[in-house]
Amino acid sequence: MSAGGSPGLHPAGLLEASPQELREAIGQLAPWFQNMELAPGVWTAPDHFLGDYPAVKFARFADALPVRLDGASVLDIGCNAGFYAIEMKRRGAGRVLGIDSDDRYLAQARLASDTLGYGDIEYRNLSVYDVALLGERFDLVIFMGVLYHLRHPLLALDLIREHVAGDLLLFQTMQQGSEDEFLPPEDHPFHKPGTFDPPEYFAEEGYPKMHFIEQRFAGDWTNWWAPNVACSRAMLRAAGFTIEAQPEAEVYLCRVAGVPYASHGPAAVYPASRLQMQPAAGSDEGALA
Ligand SMILES: C[S@@+](CC[C@H](N)C(=O)[O-])C[C@H]1O[C@@H](n2cnc3c(N)ncnc32)[C@H](O)[C@@H]1O
Repeated sequence: MSAGGSPGLHPAGLLEASPQELREAIGQLAPWFQNMELAPGVWTAPDHFLGDYPAVKFARFADALPVRLDGASVLDIGCNAGFYAIEMKRRGAGRVLGIDSDDRYLAQARLASDTLGYGDIEYRNLSVYDVALLGERFDLVIFMGVLYHLRHPLLALDLIREHVAGDLLLFQTMQQGSEDEFLPPEDHPFHKPGTFDPPEYFAEEGYPKMHFIEQRFAGDWTNWWAPNVACSRAMLRAAGFTIEAQPEAEVYLCRVAGVPYASHGPAAVYPASRLQMQPAAGSDEGALA
């Protein structure tokens, strides 16, 4: 579905809409998480508690990305209202696809992209868990602000690495705890050598730790996990990425690398295993290929 292929979500021809018409279209899709100026003085979330967000955040790490992305393909996972997809288009990206699991955010993204003249950005309702269905790899995958909302965060990273990451990954997660990185030895013995005492690695502040949030965090029940810095870094490596830059504590620019232990089999098999279901010989039942 193309960005312009959503009749009914907003009036056509918003490039020519008056500020009042644009404000009404914005209001119909409120509330907005991303505050963008769609026309002079017309903002999507004028009372946003972080102000010009996410532009102020992006300004802090924008230099870590290539200045030009001419012709590059981009997948923005959890694209929300399209801020990063639009920014990549501004850098000259070719095919840009934004996916999100929330139709209202996708409608916002289409309105913002069409209004700003980037109607060729494609948006689809697709969960990160289903990226195998895309069947293509992208030069740049953006995975910002989604990991900690997922119940299965490492699975998501594994799936991105296995199915859609072609070269670069721009990753961001909310983090809590130590910003130190303690690198444990390659193998952890059960006990301190020569004793029955547990090893001390796990007590290190900088040991990779994922904090599980059973109830709500900042009033939001969709915040499930808060890794510390060492855990974010370790998960990225474990999924098969090298970290090329960490322009700020929560933001990582990574490149596709080998997947550790890949010789033992694929890290993420879902849902590719289902895609590969083949009828077993002499049976109507599906069987794993
Ligand atoms: C905190 S917002 C981050 C938006 C944007 N990436 C940013 O950094 O500003 C999280 C976004 O992830 C989307 N999301 C949550 N779970 C998802 C899933 N399983 N697959 C795809 N998108 C998801 C939400 O709908 C929301 O738009």
